[in-house]
Amino acid sequence: MDLQNRPLKKRPLFSNRLSIITVAAGSAIGLGNIWKFPYITGKNGGAAFIIVYLCCIALIGLPVLISDFMIGRRGGKNVVGSFRALAGDRSPWLFGGFIALFGSATVLSFYGVVAGWSLGYVVKAVSNGFAGKSPAEVGAMFNDFVTSPIAPIAYQLIFMSITAGVVYAGVKKGIEAFSKVMMPILIGIIVLLCIRSLTLPGAEGGIAFLFKPDFSKLSAAGVLDALGHAFFTLSLGVGTMITYGSYIDKDENLATTALQICIADTVIALLAGIAIFPAVFAFGVEPGQGPGLVFVTLPNIFVQMPGGYFFCILFFLLLAVAALTSSISMLEVSVAYASEDLGISRKRATLFLTALISGVGIICSLSLGQYRESLTLFGKNFFDLADFAVSNVEMPIGGAISVLFIGWVLKRQKSEEELTCHGKIKVPLIAAFIFTAKYLAPVGIAIVFLHSLGVI
Ligand code: PHE
Repeated sequence: MDLQNRPLKKRPLFSNRLSIITVAAGSAIGLGNIWKFPYITGKNGGAAFIIVYLCCIALIGLPVLISDFMIGRRGGKNVVGSFRALAGDRSPWLFGGFIALFGSATVLSFYGVVAGWSLGYVVKAVSNGFAGKSPAEVGAMFNDFVTSPIAPIAYQLIFMSITAGVVYAGVKKGIEAFSKVMMPILIGIIVLLCIRSLTLPGAEGGIAFLFKPDFSKLSAAGVLDALGHAFFTLSLGVGTMITYGSYIDKDENLATTALQICIADTVIALLAGIAIFPAVFAFGVEPGQGPGLVFVTLPNIFVQMPGGYFFCILFFLLLAVAALTSSISMLEVSVAYASEDLGISRKRATLFLTALISGVGIICSLSLGQYRESLTLFGKNFFDLADFAVSNVEMPIGGAISVLFIGWVLKRQKSEEELTCHGKIKVPLIAAFIFTAKYLAPVGIAIVFLHSLGVI
């Protein structure tokens, strides 16, 4: 049987606008917002970096997100199938689909490891594991935990099993229903944490750090970090938003939806900053702490803070919840492909792909510990290599393919049909969008990409 042309079961669609935004914002809002954004902001000096980051979201992230949605909805299939439906069976553009498949699986492999740490830290927080420890001891505890061979892997596998369970249940009954419960919880927790942080004496220093720009602290590397992070935080270039786009009803306004998702994602990143930096300043800690900010600096602060026991639990719960609504979107990319194009049932595909991706994740986790020597390639351990390969290489390439496809390949008339829902709605700035997709975004991405590889 020709599997690619076999009659497909009717594809599911997200129920309504609110569902689309909840699910897609659930994908966008994740460890990127709560773990990565605060520490790269800290590293790059605060407010000036945030301004550059906002420009990257508006000028490049938003157009790529709209392009991903257009490809998915117009193609009406998984990431490879959508390119195939729009460009033809043997088109080189199919490469865009396959590289996205690879990217989504790779990102999930190391993401599951960090998400596992968050689960582990929920347990440590509940058992009051940080109490009475000196900052150096909390640092050593993190180091011992992530380099140990069993515990982080056990938590990673628990996390991956929950992810698989949600995807296994399907697009509507699993992904949509789960996100609708989790996202309000996430917002509730982050607001509580912000209130706690802002009411600490000395919180103003953190607010000034976040909102008073000092451009002398911004470097070229900071600009690169900003663009790379814009991709990561909006889940771009790995097929997630193409796959989710294929579940969006044909009457939805894609541009507005994409804009709302960008706003939601940015607001949560800023709230994460507000939950963290005022507390960091109130306790006189250095803001530029790097990746350990959340797992080392914060537990140290929580132990000194009134009510810190509960806020510590809430914080790591927040990380785990945010990570889950993102990891399901990563797994859905390859599950949708395998079940539609390879003729494997959705349930089997979920089980098989989860096992495969978790296996790679285990290698990433082990590469941080005692197997570091043997699990190193190109001078990087597997964990860093997976992060680098996705964030710095695959995502920019995948994102560029989407905008180039919309800018140069899909006929202008078809793009307009997609954006205006076949003329039913009026959408401003279409010409500006197409111009951005054709020139601005690809050139911006190319510069950053070449720079990150050290070519320019
Ligand atoms: N956007 C997610 C975050 O910020 C990460 C992600 C990347 C999700 C790629 C899906 C695909 O944590």
